[in-house]
Amino acid sequence: MSDIRQGGRLAGKVALVTGGGSGIGRETAARFAAEGARVAVADLRAGAAHEAAAELGGEAAGLELDVTSAASAEQAVAAVVARFGGLDVVVNNAGVTIVGAAHELAEDDWDRELATNLKSIYLVSRAAWPHLVARGGGAILQTASIAGLWAIPADAAYCASKAGAIMLTKCMALDGAKDGIRVNCVCPGFTETPMIEGYFAAQPDPAAARAHATGIHPLGRLGRPRDLADAFVYLASDEAAWVTGTALVVDGGLTAGIWGG
Ligand SMILES: NC(=O)c1ccc[n+]([C@@H]2O[C@H](COP(=O)([O-])OP(=O)(O)OC[C@H]3O[C@@H](n4cnc5c(N)ncnc54)[C@H](O)[C@@H]3O)[C@@H](O)[C@H]2O)c1
Repeated sequence: MSDIRQGGRLAGKVALVTGGGSGIGRETAARFAAEGARVAVADLRAGAAHEAAAELGGEAAGLELDVTSAASAEQAVAAVVARFGGLDVVVNNAGVTIVGAAHELAEDDWDRELATNLKSIYLVSRAAWPHLVARGGGAILQTASIAGLWAIPADAAYCASKAGAIMLTKCMALDGAKDGIRVNCVCPGFTETPMIEGYFAAQPDPAAARAHATGIHPLGRLGRPRDLADAFVYLASDEAAWVTGTALVVDGGLTAGIWGG
């Protein structure tokens, strides 16, 4: 076994995880640290980012970041590079869901959802890009969603943002290839996090919505943040050296086909 394997699958890498104060991002930051990466945990909620980083111990850093702001993205990336001397992996994970059909959504809600879930990928990746090039390449990863593949009723802006995230992943993969920048995304099914609790709470019958969501996953349970974090470890690692432009579906079989439950 090589030295890198002994030090962890992400040994020597510096990673920035957005939306790292909660849910999938928090677990991904923890798994990255466990695999030897030096991790910057960034979140709009600075307290949550610092708390998550403190839990990781070692060299992890907590950062305040608003992924909808170009200035904030530039500042956060500069802070990571100043702290760790470079940047190898970006996980564009921050996201929000605002329930509503297109004809019902307020314009502000549409704009906030698209800015947080889609424009953010462009802003943070653009800020990180020259630093990845300076390292001879790197990995940019997104948390997209099965909602970017399959429409969900009354969730129009979310689905549109996640479909955009999948296509932006492919575009960036083509544009980054010559610089050794691999770009991939993960498409989770319904996953146990504060976000999905909020989604269930917004439904007319939250308990029925949860039971239904569980039943439509052939593997018989909702996702756990660890299911996604492990996918991100693979995509960030050198094991995925020939993988770019892909949308890795991690959904308990939800989108495999029609399922009676
Ligand atoms: N939970 C699911 O079922 C599910 C399914 C598919 C995809 N996803 C996606 O996974 C990602 C993580 O979601 P989660 O379920 O862990 O949710 P979560 O609500 O637990 O975590 C999201 C984090 O993003 C942060 N955030 C929100 N706006 C931000 C901003 N402008 N700048 C920086 N940080 C911001 C929040 O403060 C929060 O800590 C999201 O992109 C979400 O769309 C979730």
